[in-house]
Amino acid sequence: TTPKIIFSGIQPTGVPHLGNYLGALQQWKRMQDSASPSTKLLFSIVDLHAITVPRSASILRQQKREMLAALLAVGLDPSRCTIFYQSSVPAHSELQWILSCTASTGYLSRMTQWKSKLSLSDSATVSSASAALKHGLFSYPILQAADILVHRATHVPVGADQRQHLEFARECVTNFNSSWGTDALVQPETILASSEEGARVMSLADPEKKMSKSDANHGSRVLITDDAGSVLAKFKKAKTDDLQSAGIGYDKSARPGVANLLEILAAFSEAKQSAEEIAKDFREEGVNYKELKERTAKAVIKGLEGVRERYLDLLDGDGNGKRLDEIAEEGGRKARASAEETMKAVRAAVGL
Ligand code: ADP
Ligand code: NA
Repeated sequence: TTPKIIFSGIQPTGVPHLGNYLGALQQWKRMQDSASPSTKLLFSIVDLHAITVPRSASILRQQKREMLAALLAVGLDPSRCTIFYQSSVPAHSELQWILSCTASTGYLSRMTQWKSKLSLSDSATVSSASAALKHGLFSYPILQAADILVHRATHVPVGADQRQHLEFARECVTNFNSSWGTDALVQPETILASSEEGARVMSLADPEKKMSKSDANHGSRVLITDDAGSVLAKFKKAKTDDLQSAGIGYDKSARPGVANLLEILAAFSEAKQSAEEIAKDFREEGVNYKELKERTAKAVIKGLEGVRERYLDLLDGDGNGKRLDEIAEEGGRKARASAEETMKAVRAAVGL
């Protein structure tokens, strides 16, 4: 049997929030910690994807470093996994081009992400959107497929919203292998982020929406580098409901704000209690909303203990970020070696 190869990527779009942490980074850390020695782990800061949405060069440079510092601060260990900037491995772009020669435009046009990024309805068509639709945004899923396939990843942890893209990557493998009569590319499997508690963190201000970088309300987004006072202040303002007299209850549709707090608590629960179990205990204890918010804040502060200090030290500590540069360089070197093995087979199959 082939060894497991786990690949996942994250965009360098600022300091991760609690949703990114519970939906992705904490899961990456757990995979690292439980991986057998033969498992290869690759985590990419996908800067080529980031430029589908324009931003200044200096901001992108800064945000890449911030994301690298964040990944290390949450406990990813460069001696255990390959952490790298996507653009430091040119094979990602090379494979993207090769895959694009057998990828279906029709399939891409049905993908929903470019529509949502342009705030278009699902029924929008390429021709109706063509003036605003940049080709990079449209063909983004091919680059995403290349990210995975160039490292022959067997397992790709993604959120439910990325499922469609994984399916597309599989389609790219089928198209490529059958067009060139090869088995150079390997079908990836999916690992969905746990569908249980904490998989989807909702906004503290509007629990009907997910916590997101693009949410204009900064105050409702808990960053993994927030100090204890800010975390507490943000949770104190969390929106709940007017059903406090009924006691704490876990009901996602009728009480989304309370359910969100309970799910965050469950995600950090050392006793691995579910949101429902916590709700039951709190109801029996007579915990009110103020205490629920404080206990959630405390659990988050404890769960993220040390992250802020490690992050600040990596970015601005004694070495002035030198350690970050070394880690990025070493990660790039390992990732280039990993990609090159695949590219040799790909180029041979195509005749390049
Ligand atoms: P954002 O939505 O803030 O722009 P991204 O889309 O860059 O975040 O997502 C980065 C990672 O974090 C992805 O794996 C995504 O599934 C996860 N993620 C983002 N927001 C949340 C959330 N609110 N709850 C759980 N996971 C999330
Ligand atoms: Na997003």
